Amino acid sequence: MRVMVIGGGGREHAIIKKLRENKSIEVLYALPGNDGMKGDATLVPIGAKNLDKICNFAVEKKIDFAVVAPDDPLVLGLVDRLNAVGVKCFGPKKNAAIIEGSKAFSKALMKKYGIPTARYETFTDLEEAIRYVDTQEPPIVVKADGLALGKGVIIAATREEAKAALREMMENGKFGDSGKTVVIEEYLEGPEVSVLSFCDGNIVVPMVSGMDHKRAQDGDKGLNTGGMGTIAPNPFYTKEISAICKEQIFDKTVAAMNAEGRPFRGCLYFGLMITRDGPKVIEYNCRFGDPETQVVLPLMESDLLTVMMKTADGTLDPSDVKFSTGSACCVIMASAGYPEHYEKGYEIVQKGEIDGEVYFAGAKDRDGTLVTNGGRVLGVTVKGDTLMGAVTKCYEEIKKITFENAYYRSDIGAKAIKAEKN
Ligand code: AMP
Ligand code: GLY
Repeated sequence: MRVMVIGGGGREHAIIKKLRENKSIEVLYALPGNDGMKGDATLVPIGAKNLDKICNFAVEKKIDFAVVAPDDPLVLGLVDRLNAVGVKCFGPKKNAAIIEGSKAFSKALMKKYGIPTARYETFTDLEEAIRYVDTQEPPIVVKADGLALGKGVIIAATREEAKAALREMMENGKFGDSGKTVVIEEYLEGPEVSVLSFCDGNIVVPMVSGMDHKRAQDGDKGLNTGGMGTIAPNPFYTKEISAICKEQIFDKTVAAMNAEGRPFRGCLYFGLMITRDGPKVIEYNCRFGDPETQVVLPLMESDLLTVMMKTADGTLDPSDVKFSTGSACCVIMASAGYPEHYEKGYEIVQKGEIDGEVYFAGAKDRDGTLVTNGGRVLGVTVKGDTLMGAVTKCYEEIKKITFENAYYRSDIGAKAIKAEKN
């Protein structure tokens, strides 16, 4: 098998390492990947949004199977393009990727099919949006309709703040076209759970649940980031909650997408909030989460390539997907200052073997030395029989890696461990 993975972060590194377990893979390309993955994949310097070049490369190299991991190429229709030149793909087509690509679409879908989510209204006119804000009690949640690098959600503490966010998006063009349409929604409270699933267009097979830690600093303080660490499974996602989610959210979403003529095949990510009134959808993603993938895939016992191919073919069976009963913790090592200003180019030094996995995100080869090259530099994942065991060991292992200006949160998993005790 000749396989290519589109994308270049820690999530893609985790996918690549897991795919590698399948010995029928002769060549594995990463487009563009990053230098930290060099030992695991052949890097090809083609960006994930360069659809023409990706298609040409796939034809030229006779690629049998492609995994499209990031949101941008999925929403742009890379899977449709690759299918058109005869390349099978893991990932939804453009008309299904819209479930992440447009919040106005996903909210309308949930409303139409009775899938629990925050109450909302959609606006394309600034004055109307402002008038609506005057009728709402803060905090008020303002969301840009389209992809905005995870920055398109503003939780406004006051009406004035909400209006300022609306002006930024709708008048000043922050987020470009993504912010021309906005969704204003009710503020929900409760623990958040990420559930990634394999969805083959007919059935949804959930993976082990996870918990992201989005804020930059300990105690969930500081700015929102792409994610500073994850644990799995998520103790807030009880058997009872998971049964409710399956019935009220997962199965309904797949049926809804089919009914709309937009069958979803790929990884459907449910961002859930467990509110007092039950679980509600905060967002859908049309792809694996980052850094959720870095804890979920290490706990997967089945062969990833087989599961991905069956998902793409629409022949998945729940018994194909098996997870271990253990736990995993991933702590992200970032450059100090991330998600704002940070410096790059510092040597990444590892002392001794890591008893776990290292997934690189922002790393670059400089004359034979691996140096930092991004905000999120790498993630260290450790598994354990218990969550406490995985978290404790992860923080021991991560000490073996150092670079100047390295920063990581010291409380990944703390909230989950506390919840387990209650
Ligand atoms: P999203 O990009 O939609 O995942 O939103 C980013 C984060 O904003 C989520 O992970 C939540 O923590 C928060 N958020 C989004 N929508 C709401 C809401 N309706 N109520 C409270 N928090 C929200
Ligand atoms: N970790 C959240 C996301 O991938 O969107």
